[in-house]
Amino acid sequence: MNKKTLKDYYTKASEEGWAIAQFNWSTGEMLRGIVQAGVKHNSPLLLGTSEGDSDFVGLRQCVALVEAYRKDTGLPIFLNLDHGKSFESLKEAIDVGYDVIHFDGSDLDLEKNIEETKKIVAYAKDKGIAIVEGEVGQLQGGSTVHQEKTIELDPEGFTKPEDAEHFAKETGVDSLAITFGNVHGVYEEMPSLDFERLQNIEKRVQSFLVLHGGSGIPDEEVSQAIKLGVVKMNISTELRAAYTDTVRKELAEKPHEVTPYKILPPTVEAVQAVVEQKIKFLGAANKV
Ligand code: G3H
Ligand code: ZN
Repeated sequence: MNKKTLKDYYTKASEEGWAIAQFNWSTGEMLRGIVQAGVKHNSPLLLGTSEGDSDFVGLRQCVALVEAYRKDTGLPIFLNLDHGKSFESLKEAIDVGYDVIHFDGSDLDLEKNIEETKKIVAYAKDKGIAIVEGEVGQLQGGSTVHQEKTIELDPEGFTKPEDAEHFAKETGVDSLAITFGNVHGVYEEMPSLDFERLQNIEKRVQSFLVLHGGSGIPDEEVSQAIKLGVVKMNISTELRAAYTDTVRKELAEKPHEVTPYKILPPTVEAVQAVVEQKIKFLGAANKV
């Protein structure tokens, strides 16, 4: 039986120069599409639900669904509560069985972020959680596709290498979400990543580095980020768009159909196609 933890996979990815994606989901079809892609490519899977995603599905239900797929497939599948904004919401996720948690204290000032993160790390470690992710720097954007042509970023919001070092040392987080030109959502013109900043952060921080806002970043920039130390990339908007674009299309083509299982199967395929492409590109295929 495969007993590798997510930390083992991060270590392996870091040593071998590939990355693991976190795929976010909020419907049964999306989850099925992601898992089918993982099975097809024999890839470890990291699934994510934001607070909004898990409020919709139900926190306990998220855990139960993932556990059912774990049993069915035998794949290492990990579930992360993504962008948890409070101790209470993360405690609840840990208590119902999430494997990984991400505390997003980036709205707080640095010292307060450190203080809150430390509390969460202490609780999580006591409960045997292998990975706690922290966040430093303001990630901009939102989960939309091409609503605006581009986004003007304020570099003041980018992670400062000295803040990242201080935060990581003080909190002992296993992984750290940083901002260096990455944004949530997809824009026709994506901002460029600031690789010099990434390098400076990588030199100072021992924690695994996480790239949020994985949707829409050009492949060559993702490859460069992996070369410079990123081991995990979060993807949500592209999966949401694959799902909802397909729903719109299917409903338009079948205006009189009312049976969900006759309308929704193409959404599973659409999500699966995106996930397969990401798994292959990131080098996560056949890494179980
Ligand atoms: O935490 C979720 C990710 O950062 C997703 O970003 O919606 O741009 O893919 P994205
Ligand atoms: Zn994010």
